[in-house]
Amino acid sequence: MRKTLLLVALIVATSFSAFADKGMWLPSLISSRIKDMKAKGFKLSAEDIYSINKASLKDAVVLFDGGCTGEIVSEKGLLLTNHHCGYDAIQALSTVEYDYLTNGFWAMSHAEELPCPGLKVHILVSMKEVTDRLAAGETKQQIIAEAEAEGVGYRATVESMYYGNIAYLFIYREFNDVRLVGTPPSAIGKFGADNDNWIWPRHTGDFSVFRIYVNENNEPAEYSASNKPYKPARHFEVSTAGVKEGDFTMIYGFPGNTQEYITSDAVKYIAETSDPTKISLRTQRLDIIGAAQATSPKIRLQYAAKHANIANAWKKWQGEVLGINRLGTYAKKLAYETRFREENPDKAYLLDSLAAAYARNAEGYFNYELYTETIRGIELQQVVKIAFSNLTNEEKMEAAERFYKDFVMDVDRSLAVAMLTEYEAKGTFISEELKALFAAHGGAKGYAEWLYDNTKLGSFEEFKTANISEDPMTEFVMAIQPIAKRISAYTYRNFSNIPDIERWFRPYVKALMEWDKFRAFFPDANLTLRVAYGKVAGYEYADGEYHLPQTTIEGIMEKDNPEIYDYNIPQSLRDVYATKEYGRWGVTMNGKYTVPVCFIATNHTTGGNSGSPVLNNKGQLIGINFDRTWLSTMSDIEFDETLCRNIICDIRYVLFVMDKVGGAGWLIEEMGL
Ligand code: ARG
Ligand code: GLU
Repeated sequence: MRKTLLLVALIVATSFSAFADKGMWLPSLISSRIKDMKAKGFKLSAEDIYSINKASLKDAVVLFDGGCTGEIVSEKGLLLTNHHCGYDAIQALSTVEYDYLTNGFWAMSHAEELPCPGLKVHILVSMKEVTDRLAAGETKQQIIAEAEAEGVGYRATVESMYYGNIAYLFIYREFNDVRLVGTPPSAIGKFGADNDNWIWPRHTGDFSVFRIYVNENNEPAEYSASNKPYKPARHFEVSTAGVKEGDFTMIYGFPGNTQEYITSDAVKYIAETSDPTKISLRTQRLDIIGAAQATSPKIRLQYAAKHANIANAWKKWQGEVLGINRLGTYAKKLAYETRFREENPDKAYLLDSLAAAYARNAEGYFNYELYTETIRGIELQQVVKIAFSNLTNEEKMEAAERFYKDFVMDVDRSLAVAMLTEYEAKGTFISEELKALFAAHGGAKGYAEWLYDNTKLGSFEEFKTANISEDPMTEFVMAIQPIAKRISAYTYRNFSNIPDIERWFRPYVKALMEWDKFRAFFPDANLTLRVAYGKVAGYEYADGEYHLPQTTIEGIMEKDNPEIYDYNIPQSLRDVYATKEYGRWGVTMNGKYTVPVCFIATNHTTGGNSGSPVLNNKGQLIGINFDRTWLSTMSDIEFDETLCRNIICDIRYVLFVMDKVGGAGWLIEEMGL
């Protein structure tokens, strides 16, 4: 029986001759995948992808603003990322008078590029395994301090892979003079907004353009008018040749978080408790914010980024639950665990220990998630934290002013009433202090109303003269401190990373690797640089409903609607469409003269991969990654090649918008086109 199974496995493994497109691979180990990549059409070498001896593609990839990816596309540090990744910076530069979010912005010279205080990018210098150094007794802090002393602007981190079985040192250069060069109007950059988010077919021009500045030695430096554009070791060449179904694609970026190896218990927690709870809490918050936004253009702008952020994971989790159920992930994991137990009776205790550890930590982790989604979303507590921080007085005023710019008291009051009510109903870590406050006002709802009636921190003007120590908002902040302290024991990337659970994962994953020889073990995403590869591919969305892998400008025009904010494209785009003067960006597809807009592929991606360069088989830039489909989001737990698709903004649409809508031909020239 076992023999036949093995034989079948062998046949399957060899007859496909290539691995599945699943996996997010460490660039320094990419030589282990290069055969498979070549079999799928890749033309470059492992050294071209990552090298410490010569310039390689990695030198052109940046970690953008600590949570997205970007790519350098010129010798002068020109940087592309998503519109939604540049969103915070663009919004911070926008006012009702200069509304770059709504109208877009295009610098026509270096002098017009806008500094973005606080915006940073990181470029990987090198990565090295340090498992042995840690085992020999060196601390992370020592390893980091030594690495950071090696160069100007160096920042290092030590990250564990496979639940602590392996550790890597990542050394980056941190650049903090990053300027906005251009952005399309939101009606292009965020076209379709939350309606279309996580959806294919898609027509979003989700890109924005920045530039890295450095001192005269080409080193990272604080902002200075005399800084110069950064000369990178390597930048991406752009290919306008276009893509077709089946073409090789590679993604080089910073995926944030996957949970490939979790056990059935954790899958059950996600699908039955965590996601449904978070979805329902966010539905309430979105309803409150959305209703306020509908009443005023000013509030729409003030809460635009907040609304988008809340809506994003909210929709993702809905897809994730559906996907987990559709794939039967829980049952599959359980079957896999049963097989592991049968074939490794001496290690079966690991699964028992894991199950016990999950059970031990379930209440704490749930309370952490609940707190994050309810109490932490009450915004006014932030000004108390500003007031009691160790900033200078002047800095406190600046921080508070920035806070109030995008704050509406009535919205926060409604959020506080709803979220404290939910917290009271579902939380089991409620502090004695908070219980007393609830009790004194007839419960959470009464307390929240009293709190917002009596605080004197409703506006920046009030803040400036308020007696903050005596303010009821300060009392609230004090009352939640014990909860914050208690949940900090559960504040980890995922449920499974709580140390009391992870310590069992370490031997379990090690045992899996020794046992399951046919499985390609990639380390879970943890916001370190990875390579994923696959191909351009459509898919069967529903029974009999096949979705083509490419969209065009025709689809934008079909959705265009001046009555609906998120589909109201700029007039300039309508004008170009009317004349069909697409210039060098026009192509004939399926017999129609058009402009390509987005495409999909089978690359294994996740949050953090937004803005990642999408490369062809020669390592040239063909698009900017920005999303996955709704049916894909369970890929953080189980990737299914027949269904999972990442969504990419076609570089030809990026160039078309820069040229025809932005009139920024100088940037296209700079990219060497
Ligand atoms: N879904 C994409 C990602 O996960 C895009 C998010 C930004 N857009 C939005 N409408 N919230 O980040
Ligand atoms: N939009 C996501 C991001 O901001 C990428 C989409 C995904 O989760 O795959 O990173």
